[in-house]
Amino acid sequence: MSIHQPPDDWFQAPHGPERVWIGLALAWCLILFLMMPYWHFRGKQNSTGEAYRTTPAEFAERVNRFIDANKVGEENGVPLVEPAPGSDIYLAAQMWRWYPALKLKKDQTYRLHVSSLDVQHGFSLQPMNMNFQILPGYDHVLTVTPTQSGDYLIICNEFCGINHHLMTGRIRVEG
Ligand code: CUA
Repeated sequence: MSIHQPPDDWFQAPHGPERVWIGLALAWCLILFLMMPYWHFRGKQNSTGEAYRTTPAEFAERVNRFIDANKVGEENGVPLVEPAPGSDIYLAAQMWRWYPALKLKKDQTYRLHVSSLDVQHGFSLQPMNMNFQILPGYDHVLTVTPTQSGDYLIICNEFCGINHHLMTGRIRVEG
């Protein structure tokens, strides 16, 4: 109950420019709503939804095996890994790094397994702005075909603790 009650006839149906703005806002909402299914079918940046159960310990073991088998160097203390085209490749999110750094070939397809070893992180590939939620316990598989060579930065876009802003990783694509 407010201090002053509005008069009983306070409501007036929108009219004139107000109606136009409501109409524009509604039309825009519907366009954005329809973009969701549109990108699902036409976009090339969607997850296929392929995911498996895992545990942080099991995933860490697979990541380490992958690194041991494919390591070609080291960058800022993080192993640089060059896997065979067409293979299963691994990326672990962990407070506060993406591990390992990946070296991929342009126009080759890989099956990228991503999971978290601790809390929820956000995979954000820059400058493409491709985003995925990364959760512990889920082995999220993304089919990846890089179409442009260059260095790509992975940033974390889900707040994951005091050094969240330092959580970066790298994917290098060579053509
Ligand atoms: Cu990981 Cu924020």
